[in-house]
Amino acid sequence: MLQETLNIKITKASESRVSEVDWSNLPFGKIFSDHMLMMEYKDGEWQQPEILPFGNVSIHPATSSIHYGQSIFEGMKANRRVDGKISIFRPEMNAKRFAESCERMCMPVIPEKMFVELVRKFVEVESAWIPEMDDYSLYIRPFMFATDEFIGIRPSETYKFMIFTCPVGSYYTEPVRVKIEEFYSRASVGGVGRAKTAGNYGASLYPARKGQQEGFHQLVWTDSKEHKYIEESGTMNIVFMMNDTLISPSEESDTILRGTTKRAVLDIAKMWGIPVEERKVSVEEIITAAKNGTLQDCFGAGTAATIAPIVKIGFRDEVLELPPLETRTTSIKIKNYLDDLKAGKVEDPLNWCLIV
Ligand code: COI
Repeated sequence: MLQETLNIKITKASESRVSEVDWSNLPFGKIFSDHMLMMEYKDGEWQQPEILPFGNVSIHPATSSIHYGQSIFEGMKANRRVDGKISIFRPEMNAKRFAESCERMCMPVIPEKMFVELVRKFVEVESAWIPEMDDYSLYIRPFMFATDEFIGIRPSETYKFMIFTCPVGSYYTEPVRVKIEEFYSRASVGGVGRAKTAGNYGASLYPARKGQQEGFHQLVWTDSKEHKYIEESGTMNIVFMMNDTLISPSEESDTILRGTTKRAVLDIAKMWGIPVEERKVSVEEIITAAKNGTLQDCFGAGTAATIAPIVKIGFRDEVLELPPLETRTTSIKIKNYLDDLKAGKVEDPLNWCLIV
């Protein structure tokens, strides 16, 4: 298929379900818009993309992604701006990360421009589903999985790339309690931690459930070798503030997901002259700072989570209380700025928002 001009076949749903949505009660990720996009890979190339009514996908029991985990995804958001236009936040970063996940998982890359255009076009079709309320958006879930019907270990030769969308509010409906995990690991050096691949999430469920049984929403993963250094939290990257400096674990290690929201937070801080450090962050320094009151702020940053304030950190037998939310002026200011940017209420000096 020629990739410069996307010839998308569109079959519209006979009736939209949008009028059935209870906008005052939107559980995260459970309401799906009218359509889905599907594009197959076979004979060494991507076939014609198609937008069709949302529905089940029938698959063979030997579909290789179910058995061997060649499955990757992305998370993005579209917002309705105050001028009525639609914006998508930094889609080219997700396109790049998706391509990197493809490479790592031996899956065929979707050229970044093509990925962005497929997302843009799909959001345009689903524009009636973009919530208008503050703190709500249309969550976009592009994903790809291997479809060879074959029992044997090798990269699949066929794939499905799909997109669907869900109108959502924040992933966390209350300030987050996390526990520092010192036994289980999310990722190890040389593994697939940097890829947004399904297995990373599957592997996290058991330790995360143990944390939830102890009263925490999420774990904070530490390095798999010594459990001395902080990496990321379950659904988001993690950022701290000490000495008026924003500090986040460096992405040099291939165990940390390169987050779009975290990058935006750090870029905004730099633009405003707030010192930023991306480096190894030890558990010890965070626990010491939480105890002696020098940890000024701690929050998660992710597409689904947005900026999620962390209020408690569990560490071994202790639960440390973090500073009250109203004192966290820097992260509040950054969150408000990001919201305003997406809503088109302020200038977009770095051209981060794609107007659909
Ligand atoms: C996202 O933030 O988009 C994610 O993929 C996290 C997921 C757990 C909802």
